Amino acid sequence: MSVAWHSLPDRNAATHAAAGFLMERLVEAVAARGQATLAISGGSLPRALFNHLATDPLPWDRIHLFWVDERCVPPDHADSNYRLARESLLASAAIPEANIHRVHGELAPDEGAARYAEDLSGFFHLGAGALPVFDVIHLGLGPDCHMASLFPGEPLIHDRAGLAAAVYVEKMKSWRVTLLPGVLLAARQVLFFTAGAEKAGAVQALRSGAFDPIQFPAQLVIGEHPAVAFFLDGPAGSSGT
Ligand code: 6PG
Repeated sequence: MSVAWHSLPDRNAATHAAAGFLMERLVEAVAARGQATLAISGGSLPRALFNHLATDPLPWDRIHLFWVDERCVPPDHADSNYRLARESLLASAAIPEANIHRVHGELAPDEGAARYAEDLSGFFHLGAGALPVFDVIHLGLGPDCHMASLFPGEPLIHDRAGLAAAVYVEKMKSWRVTLLPGVLLAARQVLFFTAGAEKAGAVQALRSGAFDPIQFPAQLVIGEHPAVAFFLDGPAGSSGT
């Protein structure tokens, strides 16, 4: 496990630190390769993170934005991760439309997943069996240790070859499209950002729980990815004892 843990006193400090780290990685990628590729997650915490990013004069014209996962809803739906980013990041950061590669949640789940996989293959010029290498993948952490839309019990946790898939999330009674583990593991850098006491159990499972990615999906990345930066606040990092 090679995780750089960044525990900050409170949610705002953790957000600020995660945003700063993310910005540094994006600037480095543009300097090294002329562009940066970033995949972002949804949820409740990213809004503040994206607001931070939007205020920074990043080279947005050289940054390509993708999603780690998306709910199978139209882009203007309240549950849409695209809408979340549109409101908190895209509206104020000058990201060219051509650099925004959303998941088409308005399509039927399998169609949306297939379209997204095609978009990834096209953008990254993937040959058969190849995986896209994102410069940064931003992940959140569910209280049940889910990441992306890979929830406990999801067999796709073992999929190392696929790009994206439609998954039915029983506990949410909803369909989602998600990047698959092989893509998460192929990224140059993974950034986890979480906060809140309700995540303490999941963080504990990552730090010291028995390795069981089917039960604790985020353990897969924590245990296998060579470059994980994990930003959290005090309550999320409390052992709960
Ligand atoms: C989503 C996310 C999901 C999220 C976690 C944590 O579409 O909901 O991709 O995996 O990252 O549920 O969400 P919070 O931001 O609420 O902690």
